[in-house]
Amino acid sequence: MTTTATPTTVPTTATDGLRAATAALVADGRGVLAADESPSTMSQRLKAVGVPPTEEHRRAYRELLVTAEALATDVSGVILCDETVRQRLADGRAFPVAIAEAGLATGIKVDTGTEPLDGADDGETITRGLDGLAERVAEYAVLGARFAKWRAVLHLGAGRPSSRALEANAEALARYARTCQDGGLVPIVEPELLAAGGHRLEVCAAATARTLATLARALEAHGVDPAAMVLKPNMVTAGEGSRAPAGPGEVARATVDVLRATMPTDLAGVAFLSGGQSSETAAANLAAIRRRGGPWPLTFSFGRALVSPALHAWRGDPTRVGDGRAALLREIERVTS
Ligand code: 13P
Repeated sequence: MTTTATPTTVPTTATDGLRAATAALVADGRGVLAADESPSTMSQRLKAVGVPPTEEHRRAYRELLVTAEALATDVSGVILCDETVRQRLADGRAFPVAIAEAGLATGIKVDTGTEPLDGADDGETITRGLDGLAERVAEYAVLGARFAKWRAVLHLGAGRPSSRALEANAEALARYARTCQDGGLVPIVEPELLAAGGHRLEVCAAATARTLATLARALEAHGVDPAAMVLKPNMVTAGEGSRAPAGPGEVARATVDVLRATMPTDLAGVAFLSGGQSSETAAANLAAIRRRGGPWPLTFSFGRALVSPALHAWRGDPTRVGDGRAALLREIERVTS
């Protein structure tokens, strides 16, 4: 892996404006809609519902999402991928312009995906995207982006996540976050421990604690301002294949305990990923997490849990755009009520 960012212990020069933009992303119970699947992932999702995976279908689907009526009531920002941030709505407006006019902030996924860590074949990965990142951040800011996202992917089970994987991904996340803050974008920092496996909740709790503790050290070492970033972690759950799935109360207790033990109190906020949970489960767990509370705003930055029903309702049919929007708004309502 080559990088262009320089490690530094000098605190970031994150401005009051950047801190205010960060606070706005997680204020008043609003959360972030993740619609940043790469063209290849989005194409697979389109194919799965029988829609030809063309650039125009990817564009039309994202237009459906960002033009849902009163989206800004419960959503503060929408994360796009590089393809979408350069596209236009049917009425000619660039996506970031339309999103701003709807009262939301545009986010941009700036990582470029994963590759095997040190060529290992045990499934562990490092997320790429530091090359030329400062220049890309500057360009995205000009295009209208106000925040960014970078996702590290960590596996659980059989010696994983290894210390190597934790350290390497924490280092990349911290360099990314610092580069964004220096370039005027709010970083969403996403260390995702995958839910695959049959493990118990306690195993996920221990691995999430190691992940977040490693990350917190790297963020501090790189002078990242916690008040100008949003953490996007997995919830602490039992594995997808566990015979003892945990209920919302247990998930909330374990999740908040791990966050309190590892994260600085001046962190701007926490916006959870849905990680393949159904929207019902993700919503119930988030509600319990919010009831338990923390020193930071606790909200959502869901992808699949919010957008899958919209995709199924639309299925590429222009006469069903309204059904797609209604499905999205129903899921958002479920998560925020
Ligand atoms: P999910 O909510 O589908 O896990 O996606 C969130 C996300 O942004 C993944 O990077």
